[in-house]
Amino acid sequence: MSKKLKKPWPTKAVMEQIYEQHPWGGKDHDFYSGEGSHNTQIVKPYIDCVTTFLQNHKNPLTVCHLGCGDFNIGMQLVPFTKSYVGVDIVEALIKRNQKLYQNDLISFACLDISKDELPQADCIILRQVLQHLSNAEIQDILFKLTTYQYIILTEHLPMGDFTSNQDIISGQGIRLKHNSGVDITQPPFNFKVKSQQILNEIVLENQKGRIMTTLFNLK
Ligand SMILES: C[S@@+](CC[C@H](N)C(=O)[O-])C[C@H]1O[C@@H](n2cnc3c(N)ncnc32)[C@H](O)[C@@H]1O
Repeated sequence: MSKKLKKPWPTKAVMEQIYEQHPWGGKDHDFYSGEGSHNTQIVKPYIDCVTTFLQNHKNPLTVCHLGCGDFNIGMQLVPFTKSYVGVDIVEALIKRNQKLYQNDLISFACLDISKDELPQADCIILRQVLQHLSNAEIQDILFKLTTYQYIILTEHLPMGDFTSNQDIISGQGIRLKHNSGVDITQPPFNFKVKSQQILNEIVLENQKGRIMTTLFNLK
């Protein structure tokens, strides 16, 4: 008799449950996007290097942050941009961000970035999102990113050599336990870029891997 395979939960339901049940910590917060969004040792060097990149543009850039989470990161980058749109799949989180942060320069939209049309911008920020998604969803997102000028991508990776892009079911976990991580320039994605530059790498304690931020220039 053939074994029935479990159908994975839709990503929207998974992410909603994560924010309701706080498996990424932060029980004292209404919404909490995880250590990577709040631990100063991770956040400060990230904000510093992205701020430097944004400030290097005489004409400030329009930014679209895909999977903006609780916006602890986004709100620190806004002053260095022309405008900032935060997108996330969790509706209650977007409503909360609108209430707290929306103004003439900052807007939010509830979208599934693997399925919906994305806002226009000069620069995409995609931070610790792909690492939680299946290869099929990553591929659908990447198809839509080819028209942007800059992508600033942050991924949690294993230390040393690793197998890139081992497939997972979308959810709270990442590829680290399979000694794998997302590299969009490697198969099966083979994402084409004009140039790329590592902006920042943070090595985590206790063999928990590293968080790497790469700037991709597409034009
Ligand atoms: C680990 S959090 C990172 C949040 C933010 N980028 C940061 O670094 O602070 C990942 C976020 O991606 C969002 N997300 C995951 N899949 C998504 C999808 N398909 N469309 C839109 N948002 C998604 C989740 O709801 C969550 O808020």
